[in-house]
Amino acid sequence: MYYIGIDLGTSSVKGILADSSGNVLRETSEEYPVYYPKDGWSEQNPEDWLAAAKKIIERLSDGLTDKIGGLSFGGQMHGLVLLDENDNVIRPCILWNDGRTEKETAYLNEKIGREKLSKLTANIAFAGFTAPKILWVENNEPENFARIRKIMLPKDYLTYKLTGVHATDYSDASGMLLLDVENKRWSEEMCEICHVKMKWLPRLFESYEKVGKTLPSFGLPNAVVAAGAGDNAAAAVGMGAVKEGDCNISLGTSGTVFVCQDKFSVDEHNSLHSFAHANGKWHLMGCILSAASANKWWLTDILKTTDYSGAVEDAKDLLGKNDVFFLPYLMGERSPHNDVRARGAFIGMRPDTTSAMMSLAVLEGVAFALRDCVESAKSCGLKITKSNLCGGGAKSELWRKIIANVLNVKVDCTETEKGPSFGAALLAMVAGGEYKTTEEAAAKTVKSKTAAKPDKELVKLYDERYNVFKKLYPALKDSFALI
Ligand code: XUL
Repeated sequence: MYYIGIDLGTSSVKGILADSSGNVLRETSEEYPVYYPKDGWSEQNPEDWLAAAKKIIERLSDGLTDKIGGLSFGGQMHGLVLLDENDNVIRPCILWNDGRTEKETAYLNEKIGREKLSKLTANIAFAGFTAPKILWVENNEPENFARIRKIMLPKDYLTYKLTGVHATDYSDASGMLLLDVENKRWSEEMCEICHVKMKWLPRLFESYEKVGKTLPSFGLPNAVVAAGAGDNAAAAVGMGAVKEGDCNISLGTSGTVFVCQDKFSVDEHNSLHSFAHANGKWHLMGCILSAASANKWWLTDILKTTDYSGAVEDAKDLLGKNDVFFLPYLMGERSPHNDVRARGAFIGMRPDTTSAMMSLAVLEGVAFALRDCVESAKSCGLKITKSNLCGGGAKSELWRKIIANVLNVKVDCTETEKGPSFGAALLAMVAGGEYKTTEEAAAKTVKSKTAAKPDKELVKLYDERYNVFKKLYPALKDSFALI
């Protein structure tokens, strides 16, 4: 049998077809727009995802429809999808990197209180999380709020359309701020606080559990649908990060540092998210809102080039010595600053500064922001000496080298170079009975290779640079708030 794994990303939906040994036989993708209707807002149309996902499934299963044993999703997390009584989408999805809920986030963290939120859900409120968005809709669009009959996360909209089952999984549900993450059940108290009716919420599954079968109209008679996972948990599975202490770093539109935990735990400062993992266990995670997306913005929108490696070529000798710094906070920042008003900035330019130095600063700035997450992890007692690296940015040899040296970790990539989509296919394989556990599926299919190693001298130079970087946001914080 063959399995389809779909990564419902922010810039595109990417799909793969794999056999049960993990060989990727087909891959394809479809792009769709992100809308930024106001400063700090970001939205997408769930119907665009569905149209793209249908095309992907058709292409991947072409000529093999009765040999598809299962499919599943890794999805962009936290997005708020609202359906009315006729299952129509009420308004565009408010995405994970949308910063409009400053007031609602402050209400939850300050009036309800961080301690209570952390006790109920293992997390505090961040602007991108789902619960503050529900309060925002209630406060700003009461007519839309009154029409709500179902709430779901982005990938769960696709699962719903494919199977007719209103379902989610624990990893993705963790990012709603409505789940009691430790006990894996909806928190009735949080739902009351956010005026959410329990009947609006999806049924909870483990990521590798079967939700149902595809509806006959999809023409895949033997395909089970697994609940799937949030994209970072799916990526971790696809990269083989399923054992206690395993780390996966993602350099996609967002950047994440994801550390597997066999036992539930909470970061006492709540800098790292405490979420369920797709293997039935848990993880701690830091998330920066602009990673490869900051580099894409700089090269495509500003320098108007598609030659990503050429743009930085003339600055390659400056690793660890670049005097230009970049703060990648184009959409505000989540970990560790939790500040929707933070913005991007270049600092340290001189008359001899070149665009190549600025391009290098962008790659380094993202690495330094990830280092902030690694520092939060260290203060929770986690030791990260090696990590997997996935996402579009992981394709750049230079960026891999920068990450390895800024974070002082050995960096591994995998042969398939696919994170969430491969992980989603593995979850489908477990649901389809090919493997008993995600651990077994990953052990039998994921092939890692070392991609970059830290170099003592460079680590020292980057340590000095990082000490400058970490002073920049506190110095600019108040000015960002005035912009
Ligand atoms: C994680 C997060 C992002 C999105 C990106 O908390 O918000 O990584 O899942 O798709």
